Amino acid sequence: MDATQYPVSLTVNAAGQYCLGGLSLVDLAEQYGTPLYIMDEATLSRNCRFYTEALAKHYPNSQVVFAGKANLNLGLLNVLSKENLGVDVVSGGELYTALKSTMKPETIVFHGNNKSHEELTMALQHSIRIVLDNSAELERLIHIAKSLGKKAFVMLRLKPEIEAHTHDYIKTGHIDSKFGIDKYDLNKVITRILEEPACIQLLGLHSHIGSQIFDIHPFEDLADIMTDHMLAIKNTFGIDIPELNLGGGIGIQYTTQDDPPSIPVYIERMTTRLKACLQKKGLKEPKLFLEPGRSIVATAGVTLYSVGALKDIPGIKTYIFVDGGMADNPRPMLYQSQYTFALANKAALNPEKTYTIAGKYCESGDVLAKDIPLPQAEVGDTLVVFGTGAYNYTMSSHYNRSAKPAMILVQNQQSRVLVQRETFDDLLRYDMA
Ligand code: LLP
Repeated sequence: MDATQYPVSLTVNAAGQYCLGGLSLVDLAEQYGTPLYIMDEATLSRNCRFYTEALAKHYPNSQVVFAGKANLNLGLLNVLSKENLGVDVVSGGELYTALKSTMKPETIVFHGNNKSHEELTMALQHSIRIVLDNSAELERLIHIAKSLGKKAFVMLRLKPEIEAHTHDYIKTGHIDSKFGIDKYDLNKVITRILEEPACIQLLGLHSHIGSQIFDIHPFEDLADIMTDHMLAIKNTFGIDIPELNLGGGIGIQYTTQDDPPSIPVYIERMTTRLKACLQKKGLKEPKLFLEPGRSIVATAGVTLYSVGALKDIPGIKTYIFVDGGMADNPRPMLYQSQYTFALANKAALNPEKTYTIAGKYCESGDVLAKDIPLPQAEVGDTLVVFGTGAYNYTMSSHYNRSAKPAMILVQNQQSRVLVQRETFDDLLRYDMA
């Protein structure tokens, strides 16, 4: 395993407080308020380099594109583009953000199973790689490309029909998935693309099998299946597919129960199988794209909360009430996700008791975790949740008219704001009285 659920810069200071980037989490909570999302730049860079360095060694003709749905804002994208990552976007909003960041347009990949006219137009205007999902979208794209006098560069998303062992909601490669072109339609789609050489060009094939996957075998099988498709296309149409995108999906450690693979080992095994398949099938090496999201950002992020109250139900449980919950992290309620917790101001103390951590939202289900061992908790403690850098901020809501928390970046004793805390006036911004 490369990494635990903890960010690399995590330390404990002389006052017994957890620190990130050399800064006390208690001080950061005071300075920026809570709830607070914090991203650790050292962990972000380390995670990016796990990918880029392993690929430089085993498959240099490659590009890592960060799956922006995991966590997306201008400052974060700018950090990742410095690490030579591109970005995968799935909506006009994500694409717009990526175009305003320092990401190079040629490293942006645009996904989605129902892209709108406006979204496809924006992508065409900036010559962004478009991952085509279905025949209706192909016709729409051809029509828009013709009317704009632009050429569309496309990858075809295929269903690899692989069962990855993960939560049902986050499996995507299986046959009844809403994503991707069915294998029976593939030749029809390619034939149609070849009929319109002036306005559309086939760059490659894409597939993604799911998320939070711990087993490397399905990724090796994916290389086999996708090279079978490349061979079939070569035999039928005489085309060498120049690009192959094998998606994201490697899991991370949220708690010690999770045992994810090491990223360098995953890269080595997957590319070894890919190269063997290409050789066996007599295919040219395509440029390889990978789309990790969670494994880049999850362990770089923590969330801080303030403890506002404790409620003891004798003989049953003790609740800790925090000042956030399902609006800033809906994952425990949606996927029964588990996290690792600590009291940031009591890093030197041993756990004494188990607690149920409940949020402040008006719903009984707003429980972040049950049976969490912690030192004796008190009102005013700072609770830290590890591993919250992926799919927390991007899936946050305004439930109960709550303002979204700020996100900051820390590194070398410095902190800066990536996303400002929303104000109550921000909440009124689109209301018409
Ligand atoms: N590429 C495609 C086409 C995807 O659909 C996804 C994730 C990724 C890449 C990145 O996968 P990752 O490396 O992050 O596993 N909201 C859920 C996760 C949904 C993932 C959707 N697709 C969660 O909070 O666990």
